[in-house]
Amino acid sequence: MEVIIRPDPQQAAWLTAQLIARRIQAKPDLVLGLATGRTMERVYAELVIMHRRNGLDFSGCKTFNLDEYIGLTADDPHSYRYYMNQHLFNHINIAPGHTYVLNGAVADVKAEAARFEAAIHTAGGIDLQLLGIGESGHIGFNEPLSAIMSRTRDKALTPATRRQNAALFGGDMERVPKRALTMGVGTILDASELLLLVTGKSKADILARAVEGPITAMVSASAVQLHASCKVIVDEAAAACLQGRDYYDWIFANEPEWAEFRS
Ligand code: GLP
Repeated sequence: MEVIIRPDPQQAAWLTAQLIARRIQAKPDLVLGLATGRTMERVYAELVIMHRRNGLDFSGCKTFNLDEYIGLTADDPHSYRYYMNQHLFNHINIAPGHTYVLNGAVADVKAEAARFEAAIHTAGGIDLQLLGIGESGHIGFNEPLSAIMSRTRDKALTPATRRQNAALFGGDMERVPKRALTMGVGTILDASELLLLVTGKSKADILARAVEGPITAMVSASAVQLHASCKVIVDEAAAACLQGRDYYDWIFANEPEWAEFRS
C-alpha cells in the first residue's frame, strides 16, 4: 500500500483522476469500478474535463459501481444510478450499456446481486476499483462486521451511515433507505488495483484506523491492507491522525512513479 498526502481535496481528487486517466490510456478497454459520495464529485468533474479537453476516451471502458440503495429507482435523484449519470456518464463517451449499477428497485435483490457478480466475471474482472470511505469505516456499503470474504449482497445500513448521508436527502435521516445492495469486501479485493480517496477532517480518525490499524471486519476499509496493489490518496485534513506520514511524504517526494505529479 502507498499513502499519498496532497495539500487539499482538489489536489487529491486531481491526482486520483490523473491515475484513472493513465490506466484508461494504457488499457482502452479498462474495467473500472466506481464509487459515489461527495468526495468523488471532484474526481468525476476532472475526468469530464479531461474527456472534453484532451479527448480522454471511455468508449472501450466498462464500469461497475460499488453500491445502490434498495428501493430507489434509477430516475430517483437520490439513487446512485442518477448520481453517476449526472456527474459522469452523461458527459463522457461511454455506452450506457457498459455502465453497470446495481438495480435497487428489483423485487429479488439476491438475484440482482448474483447477476452483478456474473457481469463482473463476464467482463474479465475489475482492473481498477475506486473507493471512498464512510465514517463507519465502510467501503461500498460494507458496514461493520461485513465478512472480508463477502460477495455482492444486500446489507442493512448503520444509523451512523444514514445520518452521514442524510444531507443528500434534504437533511432528513428518515428519508435515507435502511438497506442497500453492495459489492462485497471480497468482490472489491478481487480487483487488480485499488484506489482509495479520502478527504476532510471528519474522515481522519477512521482513515488512520483503516490504513494503520489492525485488519478487522469492524472496519471494512482495513481490508485494503490485504491487497497487493492499493494506493490511498488523502488530503492534509484526512491525514491528521496518521502515524507514518514522514515515510508517506518521503515516498511521494522520492519514488520515480510519482515524479510526474510533483510540482
Ligand atoms: C456512501 C457510499 C460510499 C462512500 C461514502 C462516502 O456511503 N456508499 O461508497 O465512500 O458514501 O461519502 P462522502 O464522500 O459523501 O463522504
